[in-house]
Amino acid sequence: MRSRHDRLSDMAERRISLGIAGGVLHQRLDDVMLEGPSFTIDGRRYLDFSSCSYLGLNRDPRLVDGAIDALTRYGASYASSPAYTALPLYDTLEDQLSEMTGGAVALAQTTTLAHLAALPTLIGPESLVLIDAQAHESIHAATQNLRGNGVEVETVPHSDMVFLAQRLTEVAKRYEQVWYLADGIYSMYGDVAPVHDVKKLQSIFPNLYAYYDDAHGFGWCGSHGRGYVLSQVPLNSRMIVVAGLSKAFAALGGLMVFGDQQLAQRVRLIGGPLTFSGPIPPAELGAAVASAAIHLSPEHDDLQARLLDDIDYVRQETVRLGLPVVSRDRTPIWFVKVGAIEPLAAITRRLLDDGFFINVATYPVVPVGHAGLRFIHSLHHSREQLGELLEAFAYHFLEVTEEAHVVIDLRDETLALLEAEDEAPDHRDHLDSSGAHHRARPAHRA
Ligand SMILES: Cc1ncc(COP(=O)(O)O)c(C=O)c1O
Repeated sequence: MRSRHDRLSDMAERRISLGIAGGVLHQRLDDVMLEGPSFTIDGRRYLDFSSCSYLGLNRDPRLVDGAIDALTRYGASYASSPAYTALPLYDTLEDQLSEMTGGAVALAQTTTLAHLAALPTLIGPESLVLIDAQAHESIHAATQNLRGNGVEVETVPHSDMVFLAQRLTEVAKRYEQVWYLADGIYSMYGDVAPVHDVKKLQSIFPNLYAYYDDAHGFGWCGSHGRGYVLSQVPLNSRMIVVAGLSKAFAALGGLMVFGDQQLAQRVRLIGGPLTFSGPIPPAELGAAVASAAIHLSPEHDDLQARLLDDIDYVRQETVRLGLPVVSRDRTPIWFVKVGAIEPLAAITRRLLDDGFFINVATYPVVPVGHAGLRFIHSLHHSREQLGELLEAFAYHFLEVTEEAHVVIDLRDETLALLEAEDEAPDHRDHLDSSGAHHRARPAHRA
């Protein structure tokens, strides 16, 4: 009998292979140059609704110039660990990020490496870790190191504050520290963390620490783009916010923001990847410094206001069109849960045929039974383009789910469900279908 691990791995491999065959995963662009929100795959133009460059800064000439300048002065790479030496741009960027966030900042090479630097440094075996079930995979992966160090780690239901309060009441006294690990804005459903409730719990439980990954809120949300978490609750000495520079910020790098200078210093000195991995490359540092300058200028308020306007527009339109997004929190990430694979594949194919590229999310990205479609918008999109996607999505969603008499499957992850799906006919037929039953409607031209 195959192990659970092998069966889940097989399942993930099959799902990803299906996505590749269906033209939505592991695709490579034909473009020799990018402009606006469109790209080309296999000779077809698509409007891209999968980029996290929320403020559209990724091709801003100021960031490109910053990158070129650093590249010219320092070369394509700087091949020494920051534990020995680092370019002066490191200090410039750290200072700018401290000004943006109001906290002590330590830089890492990526968000994932920031987790690997911070968590094992801060959390020892006298602590308990409670990690949200939907926290990003990069935090879950870092908790393996904690387990290896003898730390108890429990997964807790997503954003369930009643459960969290109950669990803390049961166990908090037994540990020196209890850490709650969560995302600031969840990358798939676009919902926000219940940061105010966590703060209340911190006032009840003096040994409760909150650790947030705000990769998706950082750069566009809050004053100067300090992120969702810091836009809602002030930093305190029992709170750490980790974020990345590769989404709204439009560069590369990870950062950790601490309310406690001593914790920041400890991670700077002994956080594993800060010593054992290479630095952020010069070009990315140059782009990040230029991006930070924009974030610290009044221009950021305008960019943010435009994005928030678009978010409000999308939110209203999803209501008007009856598009059942999982969360209507005020973020540019939207997810429509479909559940079953066949209708998911059919809706995806129809949207691709209409020239829209959006993200399909199945196991292992979301739990089994929760498969669906995510779309993300940025300042690269016009209002008209947003409207076109929403009209098309609502139309196809309704038509496919009506035609297929589909019951939206909201069951929890079970191996039984995996097996039932495995016994179903080959899903590739649906992915490759040309959507011959479409009702006539004007197709979008990307
Ligand atoms: C919430 C979240 N955290 C972490 C990461 C990983 O980021 P990085 O590539 O900077 O390690 C991602 C990636 O997309 C993410 O969405």
